[in-house]
Amino acid sequence: MSAETFSTDDAGGQPDNRQRRYFLIGANVAIGAVAAVGAAVPFVYSWLPSAKARAAGAPVSIDISKLRPGEMLGPIPAWRGKPVFVVMRDEATVKRLEQSDPNLADPDSQNQDMQPEYARNAWRSRRPEIGIYLGLCTHLGCSPKYYGAVQPEDFDENWRGGFFCPCHGSRFDLAGRVVKAVPAPDNLEVPPHRFASPGVVVIGEDEEIA
Ligand code: FES
Repeated sequence: MSAETFSTDDAGGQPDNRQRRYFLIGANVAIGAVAAVGAAVPFVYSWLPSAKARAAGAPVSIDISKLRPGEMLGPIPAWRGKPVFVVMRDEATVKRLEQSDPNLADPDSQNQDMQPEYARNAWRSRRPEIGIYLGLCTHLGCSPKYYGAVQPEDFDENWRGGFFCPCHGSRFDLAGRVVKAVPAPDNLEVPPHRFASPGVVVIGEDEEIA
């Protein structure tokens, strides 16, 4: 099955201008054929994958080559009609995720429905620096916001970075792991994915191609 392709020339989530960059991401995502990987062509909505193709679960390629540590790409309305978040973590964040955190409800991804087996690790991903999650809160499906910086936030003075759902206050860390005592019952879902190259990830397929 061929993959539909998303590429972007911007990424978001920096703490200083998070909202603006969210908007830019939404405006600049461009979608093309597989041969156009890496070609950013904004505002070509006629290239959007058909609703039928997305509903059928067609694999979707995403160009992540311009993503930098601390940034998030998304939400991208990519796979099966669901938004996808792609985050790039810096080294300090990776190390922080590897430390135990008693505030997490399911730190070891015991709920096997929420990620493929290869993502049952501290980062919940294939590559420690790249996190790929469905952008749907596991409470009632709102889209959580990305707060990548380790700094006090209105909703959590001990915030260590991650995703905050404004609908009812659920919080997730930078591996999409839900914290205890919030409405959301589960970690964010990790969709099946593989890396076609260092800069391109395919959502909806989970077999590495040698
Ligand atoms: Fe996210 Fe309710 S939908 S907390």
